[in-house]
Amino acid sequence: MDYGMKNRLARIIKPEDGRTVMLAIDHGYFMGPTSGLENVDKSIAPLLGYADSLMLTRGILRSKIDAGVDIPVVLRVSGGTSILKDDLSDEDITVSMEDAIRLNASAVALSIFIGSKNEKQGIINLAKLVNKGYEYGIPVLAVTAVGREMSRDVRYLSLSVRIAAETGANIVKTYYCDGFERVVETCPVPIVVAGGKKTGERDALELAYNAVKYGAAGVDMGRNIFQSEKPVNMIKAVRAVVHGGLMPEEAYKKIYL
Ligand code: R5P
Repeated sequence: MDYGMKNRLARIIKPEDGRTVMLAIDHGYFMGPTSGLENVDKSIAPLLGYADSLMLTRGILRSKIDAGVDIPVVLRVSGGTSILKDDLSDEDITVSMEDAIRLNASAVALSIFIGSKNEKQGIINLAKLVNKGYEYGIPVLAVTAVGREMSRDVRYLSLSVRIAAETGANIVKTYYCDGFERVVETCPVPIVVAGGKKTGERDALELAYNAVKYGAAGVDMGRNIFQSEKPVNMIKAVRAVVHGGLMPEEAYKKIYL
């Protein structure tokens, strides 16, 4: 791995502790004006100082994020479908690597849908993105997306994560599940855990705690932060769990409340 790739990865996963708190706000690329993201410049700006990186689309980056803010960008570069479709797996690469570089992306992100009817398309797109990534020194984050019909269990998630890593992804994003340590043990690259749909703050902090306890590098969390009643407190509490090793209940009481 050359210097550029290593340096960009180190901007995302902090070398001091090997951990990361990524803030995901890319939901609009298939969900439209997601609750909490209607007015990104107002709702997200106060959170940026507490995130290790920001995962989003180029449309929101160009229109809503102040270029003077020093935050590594993980650019969503896949899309092509919407929440109105039953099958969300029909995605392609939507952004050129040259545009990602123009936007100073520290990494690019693409979803694959293992077990879906577009499984091959996703894996081949990931392979193409990894090829381009190595050409320019840009790491690729593979999002192992779960279709409505797939179960988020250890068997399915370890299969998806391992395929993503074998295809060349530098970081893999997945969901937390019972037996998560097996997902981590069988994956040769760092894993980050998605927060998923909004739950209670305590549950989301527990998820972050368990994710890193069982070997994840951290979280790539969206709705459980920006849909929280107190988003700034919530991201601070997530940081305290992921980077500070605080117990979830302690982080909830001392930082969130
Ligand atoms: C979903 O497709 C996006 O990649 C999100 O970035 C991801 O699901 C993480 O956000 P959340 O914590 O809201 O699930």
